[in-house]
Amino acid sequence: MAKVGIFFGTDTGNTRKVAKLIQKEFDDAELVAKPLNINRVEVDDLLAYDYLIMGTPTLGEGELPGLSTQCEAESWEEFLPKMEGTDFSGKKIALFGLGDQVSYASEFVDGLGELYDAFSDAGAELVGSWPNEGYDFESSQALDGDNFVGLVIDQDNQASQTSERVAKWVAQVKSEFSL
Ligand SMILES: Cc1cc2nc3c(=O)[nH]c(=O)nc-3n(C[C@H](O)[C@H](O)[C@H](O)COP(=O)(O)O)c2cc1C
Repeated sequence: MAKVGIFFGTDTGNTRKVAKLIQKEFDDAELVAKPLNINRVEVDDLLAYDYLIMGTPTLGEGELPGLSTQCEAESWEEFLPKMEGTDFSGKKIALFGLGDQVSYASEFVDGLGELYDAFSDAGAELVGSWPNEGYDFESSQALDGDNFVGLVIDQDNQASQTSERVAKWVAQVKSEFSL
């Protein structure tokens, strides 16, 4: 079985696309599993991996995707409550988030911050923080000092930078995972 699991939430498919780019960048099918939508798995499917990469868009007004943000299907909003009481200690987790810094400058990638809080509260070791240079926004719940708590991708305004950002971040995460 692969060592690294990749799970994502999405509404219109951008986050799935980035999850696939991340998998491709690792370029090792034995090491990294095929990305799966979080609405198709159970908590035990995450616990099967010691290393996890997980992503989310921010929808609504700075919220995680799910039925209350008008997604067609369930997503992180419905999954997180299922995790309550689960211990993720011993797991290394790297997160990525998608957002739109122009239309949502004051709640840019807030959902990434929410995901970070959920997994750090559950005891996981979070890696993969990312500098906020090169983005233009007003505020974000995904900031910890000058760094985002995970990779930030803006497909709406900076799609041309996505592959370079993914390549750099995957190299960083490989080393932080000690793979
Ligand atoms: C209705 C709506 C609300 C959004 N709200 C936010 C937001 O609060 N913060 C943000 O950074 N991006 C926001 N976005 C931008 C999305 O996060 C972005 O388009 C993302 O790439 C969508 O990913 P997906 O295709 O995986 O659903 C919003 C987009 C839509 C359509």
